[in-house]
Amino acid sequence: MSDEQQGGITTVLKEDRSFPPPQEFQTRASVKSMEEYEQLWQKSIDDSETFWTEQAETLLDWDQRWETLLEWNAPFAKWFVGGKLNACHNCVDRHLLTWRKNKAAIVWEGEPGDSRVLTFSDLHREVCKFSNALKSIGVTKGQRVTIYMPMIPELAIAVLACARIGAPHSVVFGGFSSEALADRNNDAEASVMITADGGWRRGKIIPLKDNVDECLTKSPTVKNVIVYKRTGQEISMESGRDHWWHELVEEQSADCPAEPMDSEDPLFLLYTSGSTGKPKGILHTTAGYLLGATLTTRYIFDLKEEDTYWCTADVGWITGHSYIVYGPLSNGATTVMYEGAPNWPDAGRFWDVIEKYRVNILYTAPTAIRAFIKSGDQWPKKHDLTSLRLLGTVGEPINPEAWMWYHEVIGGGRCPIVDTWWQTETGSIMISPLPGATPTVPGCATRPFFGIQPQIVDKEGKEVTQGRGGFLVMAKPWPSMLRNIWGDEERFKQTYWSQVAGKYFTGDGARRDEKGYFWILGRVDDVINVSGHRLSTMEVESALVSHDDVAEAAVVGRPHEVKGEAITCFVTLEEGKQPSPELKTELSKHVVDQIGALARPEEIRFTDSLPKTRSGKIMRRLLRDVAAGRESQGDTSTLEDFTVLAQLRDGDE
Ligand code: WTA
Repeated sequence: MSDEQQGGITTVLKEDRSFPPPQEFQTRASVKSMEEYEQLWQKSIDDSETFWTEQAETLLDWDQRWETLLEWNAPFAKWFVGGKLNACHNCVDRHLLTWRKNKAAIVWEGEPGDSRVLTFSDLHREVCKFSNALKSIGVTKGQRVTIYMPMIPELAIAVLACARIGAPHSVVFGGFSSEALADRNNDAEASVMITADGGWRRGKIIPLKDNVDECLTKSPTVKNVIVYKRTGQEISMESGRDHWWHELVEEQSADCPAEPMDSEDPLFLLYTSGSTGKPKGILHTTAGYLLGATLTTRYIFDLKEEDTYWCTADVGWITGHSYIVYGPLSNGATTVMYEGAPNWPDAGRFWDVIEKYRVNILYTAPTAIRAFIKSGDQWPKKHDLTSLRLLGTVGEPINPEAWMWYHEVIGGGRCPIVDTWWQTETGSIMISPLPGATPTVPGCATRPFFGIQPQIVDKEGKEVTQGRGGFLVMAKPWPSMLRNIWGDEERFKQTYWSQVAGKYFTGDGARRDEKGYFWILGRVDDVINVSGHRLSTMEVESALVSHDDVAEAAVVGRPHEVKGEAITCFVTLEEGKQPSPELKTELSKHVVDQIGALARPEEIRFTDSLPKTRSGKIMRRLLRDVAAGRESQGDTSTLEDFTVLAQLRDGDE
């Protein structure tokens, strides 16, 4: 990797601490030792056909068995070709035939403190009724449905109902603005949008329906909107277009057969940021995705029938898709859903939820952990956390000190931590410890999951030597891999399959240590990770330059104590425009309006010009150094005008 590509991510502290799985945990775990893991992994790679065949037979219910396991016309994969199954049936119906029918499927906690429990029977009834409601407004197999909802059980119900009738869902995180919602919806060309009047966040109402109304002025494809009444405030309902959820569902029958879907029928689209401004609709299909989510949930979280499992993500992200909805429910597990902010009404809310529902497995993000560290140990210490037996993290590299705090203060030193590396595109976890087998090391995602073969390569695709940084790629296709970018096959090929011939390019850098453990170094492209959310710097730049006063903008991430990375913007103004604190505030608001609060700039700096190479490329590496307050270490010989750099360092405005 060149310096520019590494983006200053090559340094990782040497970490000598290692934590073998606790004996008690190990005894009950499904994989109990490194030898067992290694044997199983090797077999899953050497004879992947047998491995995936056995898993698909054991873990999923099929309406019709597949004929061909894998058709691999690189980069296009088809898994379980000819098979038929339904994801919703696998997550709901099949459990009704067992004692699980009255087991809690979803345990939900609203931010104001209200609470609901849905058993698998309840879930089945609600999903069937809502599936019929969707049919009643004309939704048919293959039609995309946009879901823009708060974290309430109806979000999971909507997702499962779409899966049941074969309408691919496109969930858009409730924190995105109406603009961002419109972009995603227009790309998916959804004809139906499911939303709520609002959702609770830090004691305030997020006005989801108002955002939808605004979005629909730019989204002509939407003919019907279904609105769940959550917060109860006044909203406008357009007759003929907008339907109340409760009214539509009231008259529906609770009988709705699950549609047998082809293995390769689309299950959902999920938009994520890439290196350019336009979000990509990542396409996942039915059988492979469901198998990946089901299998990884079972092994990596070492699920036991009696576990109460809580993943704190939002269903608007892939983590929520795979590890709140599909993975746990397909395994018949009890999954906890929480609506609001982690620190509302106070910094003890998560620990309160854990104590209240006796949560056994907690899966959260490093950014949340770092925020909890800041608010102090007194909050978790007030609560009984002894129900916890396993902890997980995801979304960004976890710094070793945050790992240690999680281990000691939350896990009481007795819970293994699974640091899980994966992506929207991979569908399910790719690199992670197995909690009963893998000795963990703070900050390290350790070893690949079964059937997954990561490699670290240079630009030519040659594996780098142990200890050196390189590009993280996948050498073999796997069932839950993305199949395409919605409507943009060229970009799919270009982004994931052209960087390193014949291998899936993750966009992350990594290195491998002497134990064969993978250390994730971070993104090598223009994607930044703010509080575990992926954002493209170009997306923020486009938002900035769409403001009348802005001539040019360059956006970089800089290290941030809690957020991981924070958004720093360098902005040049149009002739005659003057920098001012008011303009800063206005630009910041403009970015939030365009994308959502998650993209709010941490810092905006006005400058007369941006550092560029002689060929006119913005030198982001330099800007990253300036933003982080580092001296530039790299080569500045191609910099067009050195005074620019001096000026950037000297002052804010
Ligand atoms: C980063 C989230 C280090 C990585 C599931 C990846 C991580 C991007 C980890 C995907 C981890 C995720 N350690 N980095 N355990 N998990 N990442 O699509 O850069 O929102 O490429 O999927 O997050 O983000 P996405």
